[in-house]
This record gives sequence, structure tokens and C-alpha cells, in this order.
Amino acid sequence: MRSTLRNDLIELFSQAGSEFISGQKISDALGCSRTAVWKHIEELRKEGYEVEAVRRKGYRLIKKPGKLSESEIRFGLKTEVMGQHLFYHDVLSSTQKKAHELANDNAPEGTLVVADKQTAGRGRMSRVWHSQEGTGIWMSLILRPDIPLQKTPQLTLLAAVAVVQGIEEATGLQTDIKWPNDILIHGKKAVGILTEMQAEEDRVRSVIIGTGINVNQEADDFPEELKETATSLSQAAGEKIDRASVMQHILLSFEKRYRDYLAHGFTPIKLLWESYALGIGSELRARTLNGTFYGKALGIDEEGVLLLETKEGIKKIYSADIEMGSL
Ligand code: BTN
Repeated sequence: MRSTLRNDLIELFSQAGSEFISGQKISDALGCSRTAVWKHIEELRKEGYEVEAVRRKGYRLIKKPGKLSESEIRFGLKTEVMGQHLFYHDVLSSTQKKAHELANDNAPEGTLVVADKQTAGRGRMSRVWHSQEGTGIWMSLILRPDIPLQKTPQLTLLAAVAVVQGIEEATGLQTDIKWPNDILIHGKKAVGILTEMQAEEDRVRSVIIGTGINVNQEADDFPEELKETATSLSQAAGEKIDRASVMQHILLSFEKRYRDYLAHGFTPIKLLWESYALGIGSELRARTLNGTFYGKALGIDEEGVLLLETKEGIKKIYSADIEMGSL
């Protein structure tokens, strides 16, 4: 945990934007001497913050460090719950694994685990999730919804909606959802979401939403087998993207959608999800653990399950890899 004074200083700079703040104003706001202000600014510089100092004008923040840090994530985070209990690590085997441990230790709703690098990132269907250092957002959010087990797929779809909205608000990029929760840009995968839960009899103890977002990877950063199918936000935007800002927007969007969901049920989320989804009304192939099915995607039902119209009738698809286009 960083010193509160230094956190307050970053917050002051963030609020001032490109404006200068005088040394006197900073020392009044922080309740410390001007010498102490200067010392804290030197500490920030050592952490990679670029602070400009001009006589008679004061200080202004030119650039934040590219590296993620707890303060980077915390400041500018406008949520009340989501991400307010924050566990940041430079390296973890998997944020998902850590979040399960915290959930077992009664971590409250909204607890967020973030790592700059994962050494054993987990994907859907027991795949590996490539989580290289310094490039992506690797985070897991703990929820404690009072809902029956069969409704948890709805939260996966809610998370996908929040990610689409958060990315658009932070970067202006428009993304699509491929059922259930891959987020694509121009047909390539930029985000994967893994929802896991802890349950007791037929009630949910916790739901852990793991989100992996390719943010600043160059094409060559992806392993050979992903080069054709993966992309990153920066590749689409043509510039580097501030990971903390994307995370903050997603968490805020998640909090709003989650409140809607708890107050009004799944219908508002379903409508939003369908407005961002690709392939509804088209023919597709669903590879599930119980076989491969072909048919027309009719949409999702009230539980968030995909309805596929096959020759044998309507089939409910709970989990699958979906292929669209020429089959
Ligand atoms: C997918 O297969 O599409 C889902 C990928 C989910 C990856 C994220 S990264 C953060 C969290 N920690 C993990 O180990 N996995 C999820």
C-alpha cells in the first residue's frame, strides 16, 4: 500500500488535467510543507511519473508511468463497490486462482484482483490464456449475488456488455460480442471472459468474473497459433492505450449494469447484449463437449443460454466454441 499523501497528490494532478497547480496550493490541499510536496514529487518521478515544474506556475503532470500500479487503477475509479477492494500484483499465476482464495476468505463483493503478468492464465474450456507482462488487462472480480445457480450465465453476458461499453467509453472503439462472451474487433478476438462460481447446494456463494483484455500488444507479441485470430485495442486504435482508464470505465459500466440487473432482472441486459452480438439470425456451428451442432442462432433465452434451431429441433447451448461464416 502506498502512502496516502502520495495517492492524494496523484489525485490532485489527475483532477488538474493539463493545468499547473502551485506548490502552495498542493501543500494546503495535502496539509504538508512545501518541502514535503517537493519530496513526494521526486518520489513520483522515480516511479515513472513525468512532472513538469515551472517557476511561478507550479507543477503539472505530463505523463503517467506506462506500468500498471495500484494508484493508477485506484485514481480515476468512480465506482462505489467494484474494484474498491483492490489487490494488485506485478505477477500472479492467475488472478482467477487468487480471487478464488480471497472469495473463500470472505472477500466482499466488488473485490478485484489485477496482475500485470500471469504465468498460468486460464481460458475457457481448460485452455491457456496468454498473459504477457505490461500489455494487457488481466483481472478477476468477485461478486456475491443472491441468485440461483442456473442464473449465473446471465452474469457472463452482463460482463460482456460492460466490457463493450467500457472499451467504447475509454477509447471510442466499437467492439462486437460473439456468444457467449468473446469480444471481437473486426472479427478478431481482443477480450475473453471466464466466469466461475463457488456454490453451496443450490445457492451461489460467489461468482468470479475473469477478464483478459489485449490492450497494447503488437501483432508480433502474440504466439504463432494466435496471430491470425487475436488482436489488441491498440492495434485497432493505432495508438497506445491507457490500461488503467480502460479498466476504470469497464468497472463503472459493470457496476451500473449490475445494479440494473439486481433491480430489474435480466431483460435490460439481454436487450443490450443482443444489440452488440454477432451472428444472431445466422447459421453457425457450436462445438460443445457433447458434440458439434449446426443451426440458426435464434438468440438467447431468459437464462442467457443460446438457442440453436437445428434440423432436430431447438437445442439449448450452454457452453461451446462458435464458428460463423462459411461452414
Ligand atoms: C477465454 O478463454 O476466452 C477466457 C479468458 C479469460 C482470461 C482471464 S485473464 C484474467 C483471469 N485470470 C485467468 O487466469 N483467466 C482470466
